[in-house]
Amino acid sequence: ATSIPADDRVPDMGKRQLMNLLLLGALSLPTAGMLLPYTYFFVPSGLGGGGGGTVAKDALGNDIVAEQWLKTHGPGDRTLSQGLKVIPTYLVVEKDKTLATFGINAVCTHLGCVVPWNQAEKKFICPCHGSQYNDQGRVVRGPAPLSLALAHCDVDDGKVIFVPWVETDFRTGDDPWWA
Ligand code: FES
Repeated sequence: ATSIPADDRVPDMGKRQLMNLLLLGALSLPTAGMLLPYTYFFVPSGLGGGGGGTVAKDALGNDIVAEQWLKTHGPGDRTLSQGLKVIPTYLVVEKDKTLATFGINAVCTHLGCVVPWNQAEKKFICPCHGSQYNDQGRVVRGPAPLSLALAHCDVDDGKVIFVPWVETDFRTGDDPWWA
């Protein structure tokens, strides 16, 4: 009795096919998941590179139209948009209901958490280690060592455009640490 009975082999084949299917599924899931960061990595290089401007995008990835934005975002508003190199960047609405000419990079200068705007306190307060920035992103409490980076915010053909900020930081009078 060295040969395996036929009716034992059949379920084995079935099992192997099932294993193959599971393996295939296990392989293709991470593949799909890896495509996204891959895409994100390559898309911004065409938009943000070379010192040029880039159109600000809203949370849904649509181009931000200034007039439209100002209809739904009142004076004092600071809302995240997608800025240069896909960096989350605050669009600032001034008290006179116009868009500020600067956007504020939302990445905390301590360890890189995205810093939320606290409307009640009129400050950006980092949830990670408590750093605070005033309403223009100037650091007012550590451990963050530096103010939030700036970007120029312009309107071109109705759309909001971010352009790299390489001039003096108007909040501190210092050279921009990020340029
Ligand atoms: Fe913001 Fe540490 S990352 S305080």
